[in-house]
Amino acid sequence: MLPAEQYERALEGCRAAAAAGWEILHAGGSALDAVEAAVRVLEDDPAFNAGRGSVLNAAGQVEMDAGIMDGHTGQAGAVTLIKHVRHPITLARYVMAHTPHLILGAEGAEALAPKAGCALVENDFFITPYRLKQYHRKAVSTAGDTVGAVALDAQGHLAAANSTGGVSFKYPGRIGDSPILGAGYMADSHMAAAATGQGEHIIRAGLAFLLRDLIASGFSAPQAASRATTLFLQRVPQGQAGWILLDAQGRVGIAHTTRHLPHAWRTGGEEDFVVGLRATETK
Ligand code: GLY
Repeated sequence: MLPAEQYERALEGCRAAAAAGWEILHAGGSALDAVEAAVRVLEDDPAFNAGRGSVLNAAGQVEMDAGIMDGHTGQAGAVTLIKHVRHPITLARYVMAHTPHLILGAEGAEALAPKAGCALVENDFFITPYRLKQYHRKAVSTAGDTVGAVALDAQGHLAAANSTGGVSFKYPGRIGDSPILGAGYMADSHMAAAATGQGEHIIRAGLAFLLRDLIASGFSAPQAASRATTLFLQRVPQGQAGWILLDAQGRVGIAHTTRHLPHAWRTGGEEDFVVGLRATETK
């Protein structure tokens, strides 16, 4: 169980990220801009395992992955093994928009940071005292995981993005689900999804493609998110993951096999943000 103080910080962070995305959508901006803005807020928030506050690998360093997809154009971009770029999600968007590639890693990706307008920082910048303490105690993190955002804009376009520091004590060079299209993220003209949890489980299940296929079969986002739980666990018994899903009608689906999934959202129909933790007992 997370301590109550960490719930509060996670929920506040989710709300701030949703507010950043909402501001863009409310002003008529694109879903793509909204998901990037939301994820940047989460990358800056040390309560989450993304950007500053990422977990440490076995060598005591932070290595981050991120992916983004524009459901309208079908374009996607991702970066992996990032050690010095303050906002990996913005670099992923640059890969999407300005290179012929889908995934770029390590030094090759970081070399594009100046052109992408991304700040470069020392690896220490990402390492918080809390994560350092966990590392020295050899404690696998239970606090805050991969972050993600999905959005639908006034033009009816969908987008998805996610960003992560991966898993604690991972081998240097390990790559998780977050930069893998169809695993950690996916968007098309009918849906947008982002996943969190154990990358190896999410990739094996093809989780974001599973969600896409459920939406394509006619399920709404809440129905598809819920059905995916059984299918995910059939594919990966005892798999640990959570997912957020949005359909073209603006319906929201959230499900998880992890204990919690802190989240926040807002739609045109809501007067305020919906913020919650989804503790296991409410599933
Ligand atoms: N879901 C993040 C990772 O496993 O890398």
